Amino acid sequence: MDSIVVTGNGPLDGQIPIAGAKNACLTLMPATILSDEPLTLTNAPRLSDIKTMTALLASLGCEVSSLQDGQVLVMSSHNLDNHVADYDIVRKMRASNLVLGPMLARLGHAVVSLPGGCAIGARPMDLHIQGLEALGAEIELRDGYLHAKAPKGLKGAKVTFGFASVGATENVLMAATLAKGTTVLENAAREPEIVDLATCLRRMGAQIEGDGTSTITIQGVDRLGGATHPVVTDRIELGTYMLAPAICGGEVECLGGRIDLVGAFCEKLDAAGISVSETEKGLKVARKNGRVRAVDVTTEPFPGFPTDLQAQMMALMCTAEGTSVLEEKIFENRFMHAPELTRMGAQIEVHGGTATVTGVERLKGAPVMATDLRASVSLILAGLAAEGETVVSRVYHLDRGYEHVVRKFEGVGAKIERVPNR
Ligand code: EPZ
Repeated sequence: MDSIVVTGNGPLDGQIPIAGAKNACLTLMPATILSDEPLTLTNAPRLSDIKTMTALLASLGCEVSSLQDGQVLVMSSHNLDNHVADYDIVRKMRASNLVLGPMLARLGHAVVSLPGGCAIGARPMDLHIQGLEALGAEIELRDGYLHAKAPKGLKGAKVTFGFASVGATENVLMAATLAKGTTVLENAAREPEIVDLATCLRRMGAQIEGDGTSTITIQGVDRLGGATHPVVTDRIELGTYMLAPAICGGEVECLGGRIDLVGAFCEKLDAAGISVSETEKGLKVARKNGRVRAVDVTTEPFPGFPTDLQAQMMALMCTAEGTSVLEEKIFENRFMHAPELTRMGAQIEVHGGTATVTGVERLKGAPVMATDLRASVSLILAGLAAEGETVVSRVYHLDRGYEHVVRKFEGVGAKIERVPNR
């Protein structure tokens, strides 16, 4: 397994291109199942999760062609010949469960393995099931698989989510586009990835209103056509790279960055003493003088502070002036980066869903282990400013969500390299 070796190398300076959003692409790809005409995605990120979703769609009979070094995906599901999403693919990536709604809508039946838990939590699917059953699906759990069918087709209904689940909103939204009649989703997720999915579905002929708010209304149609759609910028990759100059000092322009994607995050950077300015090409982030100030963070559904930036923000707080309290309200086990940061000299106390970080002057490089996607990049961020060398092992986690991470950090002056089997 590869490792990444980072050596603290002073302030950063330059530009980092931001890719298309992993979490948008992973819901846009299954949307191809809803139509027998081709769906083309541009600005697609080059990530192992995209390869996993490609393998899953291919196992269902979809054709997926990857063009322009993976930035363009041309998909077609005119001959879907399998409705079983296998455990060995689904267990690798929870987002595989996003084929459930589209398959029910297009085929009238689906068998999808329960994804099982992952490092950050149990990841149940009760809200997905509740929403699809409200549309008339009959869903039974057998041998670890959800056996779903809609013998009389799906019918529009009112669905109120107990929690604004991103995945459940996406699954039910996609299914509702082909249901008979009107569906209203209450307490729907408001993430930019939901708006991106709705925009793509409208391009395919769906009738959707209210995406981006808590109430989404869908008028079912008989069929959907093909479309070409650009994947929205990845707000989590954007926030991650914005933290690099915040932690190291210097000035970095994140190309393609949009302030509307990272509003709550930028409010916290501003409070911490980091300057963010909009340029013609994206967002410029600078920390010119003085230490970062400690700020408190609570993760919430969008437009609140994103849980996917909590680990990275903790890395910044490790050397901030003062004490920061980070509350993780979305997942039950998302502080696994804390003990690794402690190995670098960070002072962090974790009690349940709350981590209290007392800033130190500087971290010291150390061998650390990546435990999940966002934890892995927070260790790299910490290593960028630490004294000496940090070796982050198990970086296959990184490949799931960050394309060309070494090249992007090298491009702004970081001392970083990927080494095999270290
Ligand atoms: C999406 O996961 C993202 N993944 C996650 O990003 C992100 O952290 C999460 O949304 C929250 O923003 C993709 O989009 C592929 P949820 P998802 O359903 O849809 C509970 C990353 O690092 N819940 O909003 O699984 C659940 O257990 C990944 O890129 C239920 O209880 O998130 C969790 O505690 C990590 N029942 C909370 O809701 C359900 O039926 C949020 O889950 C569904 C969810």
